[in-house]
Amino acid sequence: MYHYGTFPQGFSWGVSSSAYQIEGAWNADRKGPSIWDTFTQKPVFNDDNGDIACDSYNKIEEDVAILKQLKVTHYRFSISWSRVLPDGTTKHINEAGINYYHRLVDALLAANIEPHVTLYHWDLPQALQDTGGWENEAIVFKFRDYADLIFSRFGHKVKFWITINEPYNHVLQMCLFVRAFSGISLRPGTLPYIVGHHLIKAHAEAWHLYNDTYRASQKGIISITINSDWTEPRNPYKQEDIDAARRVLQFYIGWFAHPIFNGDYNDIMKTVIRERSLAAGLPKSRLPEFSLEEIKRIKGTYDYFGFNHYTTVLTSPVNYGKLQGAGLIADRTWLDSGSSWLKVSPFGFRKILNFIKKEYGNPPIIITENGISERGPFNLNDIHRSYYYEKYINQMLKAYLLDDVDIRGFTAWTLMDNLEWATGFEERFGLFYVNRSDPNLPRVPKASAAFYTTLINCNGFPDPALGPHECLNPVLEGKLQRSD
Ligand code: BGC
Repeated sequence: MYHYGTFPQGFSWGVSSSAYQIEGAWNADRKGPSIWDTFTQKPVFNDDNGDIACDSYNKIEEDVAILKQLKVTHYRFSISWSRVLPDGTTKHINEAGINYYHRLVDALLAANIEPHVTLYHWDLPQALQDTGGWENEAIVFKFRDYADLIFSRFGHKVKFWITINEPYNHVLQMCLFVRAFSGISLRPGTLPYIVGHHLIKAHAEAWHLYNDTYRASQKGIISITINSDWTEPRNPYKQEDIDAARRVLQFYIGWFAHPIFNGDYNDIMKTVIRERSLAAGLPKSRLPEFSLEEIKRIKGTYDYFGFNHYTTVLTSPVNYGKLQGAGLIADRTWLDSGSSWLKVSPFGFRKILNFIKKEYGNPPIIITENGISERGPFNLNDIHRSYYYEKYINQMLKAYLLDDVDIRGFTAWTLMDNLEWATGFEERFGLFYVNRSDPNLPRVPKASAAFYTTLINCNGFPDPALGPHECLNPVLEGKLQRSD
């Protein structure tokens, strides 16, 4: 059922991007390489790379112009760690890199668009990977030093910080990376938990640093972005499926949210991993433990719940002798996208927002990503994207109006088609199409850009019965008109 209504005044509407996916200029002005520069040198999955990407390093004006056309109130982007610290440490600060972000932030502020800055969106400096990357605990303090530099240089202008983007996906990605490039064995049951452990600690240290040293004078807010699908029991009347759905959710959103919002790893993860580790003859659990002081230090290191959400999976238990776990499938009636993992399933958005409210003590929530892809021949008339946003944002409205979930802002992924990591430029999530056959890489609005702008302009879905609504009239200045 469609629900009419609007979000509260001051609700923040934005779009999101990340450094490696859009900036290009991979070695310009003394930038150091990141793991993704290394990763894409070998065409493991795809020949594409971020050497040029959308050339955003040289296109601040163009990017801010399309943000203005969208009428967003915030723009979420990330800083490339190795652009400002080429070897990842503060031994050498690259002022040219710092300057790029100053110019971007200044242009945003001049356009009245609030910068939402992610410190780390997966592009670890290669030099830090060479000394063990996230597997080596020393990284926790390297990350804190990097955060310190960024707060001290940008905190008078930037008031909204995200420490780390999607630790869950990054952990999985790191494992692929390690296997593909360093020849170190994958250790699938061990490495992810160590990497995850250090990501949580690094986040907590950056939060404390901001809280103790910068908050009073800079008056910003800082948190982490956690991603999760919703897990729905495959058969809602079968207890086993209900249990499997609960378990998977605790291994997914719960892995990172529980230590930060509730304290320590959740019991389901602790029990399952411990039992399996002991059964495999290991002396202790593969899941590292936090000390009591660490649990206390990590708990509460948030100012809001940054949440990325795209899709839902149906879960049921799998038990093939040694192979035990959960089967994850999609309902065949859910519409497809350009990404194999992403099926259109808006109902799950409302459910997981309710889950966050109940499980993590009703925190203020900012949606830091949500969106859909396409692949194949380009078509500016992307009705699937307008459909997706209409349905997902309507579910978010129900969560806000009917279920009292404290949602403060929404960020669409993504501003323009960009490098979709290992799947390259083929999977396109943008509100703007980037014409890659033209060396100027022009950004061209898709139809959904106008749709999103109208939604922003109306702050939701005003009831037509209470109309007419001025906000539904085209607010688009020339260039955003559909070109089909
Ligand atoms: C990531 C983005 C990515 C998007 C679509 C998120 O997991 O933060 O970098 O492009 O999903 O896959």
